[in-house]
Amino acid sequence: MSKVTLSVIKADVGGFVGHSSVHQNLLAAAKDHLETRGKGLLIDFHVDHVGDDIELIMTHSLGVDNEDIHKLAWDAFLAATAEAKRLKLYGAGQDLLSDSFSGNIKGLGPGVAEMEFEERPSEPVIVFMADKTEPGAWNYPLYKMFADPFNTAGLVIDPKMHKGFDFEVHDLIEHKKVVFHCPEELYDLLVFIGAPGRYCVKSVYSRTLGEIAATSSTQRLNLMAGRYVGKDDPVLIVRCQSGMPAVGEALEPFSKPHIVAGWMRGSHHGPLMPCGAEQAIPTRFDGPPRVMAFGFQLSQGKLIGPQDFFADVAFDRARQIANEMADYFRSMGPFEPHRLGLEELEYTTMPEVLKKLAGRMEPIE
Ligand code: F6R
Ligand code: MG
Ligand code: MG
Repeated sequence: MSKVTLSVIKADVGGFVGHSSVHQNLLAAAKDHLETRGKGLLIDFHVDHVGDDIELIMTHSLGVDNEDIHKLAWDAFLAATAEAKRLKLYGAGQDLLSDSFSGNIKGLGPGVAEMEFEERPSEPVIVFMADKTEPGAWNYPLYKMFADPFNTAGLVIDPKMHKGFDFEVHDLIEHKKVVFHCPEELYDLLVFIGAPGRYCVKSVYSRTLGEIAATSSTQRLNLMAGRYVGKDDPVLIVRCQSGMPAVGEALEPFSKPHIVAGWMRGSHHGPLMPCGAEQAIPTRFDGPPRVMAFGFQLSQGKLIGPQDFFADVAFDRARQIANEMADYFRSMGPFEPHRLGLEELEYTTMPEVLKKLAGRMEPIE
């Protein structure tokens, strides 16, 4: 059996209006590009958006980090950018940090989550897509899905899950990685992933099946650009069922909104609100941060779907809780912990204010 690669590549190349959504012309330009230039490269694709981010969901047989696939995505974003410029949309070309493509789209601005695997007799996958937040936003739900038996009954009940999962964690500051074998290293794992601004779960592997189960995008745009560009608005792919979390176990962590960094100006904590495609347009204080979950069945690499999971009324209550949390957080205004801690505000006006006041700073007697 040949392997299939699922590549999800995303970028914000212009908002409509402000940073809230993506104009349909941009989606059409990206789709058109994949349709015409993806011939002979892609098996299938789906183009969508969450908030102001365009999501290219693609299948092919060329493996991860393939130059042709990355170039195809880069050029699709360029085509959308041209349309964004023509319509004078906000922040046209925002995430494309380079003037030219050089072999791999990673490091050039767009977010990338890719996995290669042998398609099982039935292959359900979920693509999670978030806006107004950072890659560490996946730490909490990935922990719940793959390590918490109170979330995932399969860890207790399914013999193919009982041995647990390996978590590959990346240190985004030092550019190092480490694998934790869980459940026995759960407490060690939590020391790191409880700090989602620095340590991010990159991938999860089934110990029984020896297969990849989940992978996320983990770049930090601001660290790459050296200035504030926006939060990374990450994506996550999760394979489900038959030794992986059931679809419902993968969705369950989002029933209680957790607190993530991002929101207005990428500088605030707030709830991650699960929502359907129709509701994926962050408005209030440019938020609150959103997450969408699209389910697909793969069939010889074809993407059968999407199924818009968070459109379900079962997530209405999570949205209500997120709205109540948003009220509460907003009442804090510019005070921490609604506003991010100082070290996270590195690329905002904060260093300039500190510089301006440096001369007036006196030692305390
Ligand atoms: C957050 C985001 C928005 C903008 C805000 C200010 O990721 O994109 O909240 O930061 O709308 O945007 P500018 O600085 O472009 O006016
Ligand atoms: Mg934007
Ligand atoms: Mg965005």
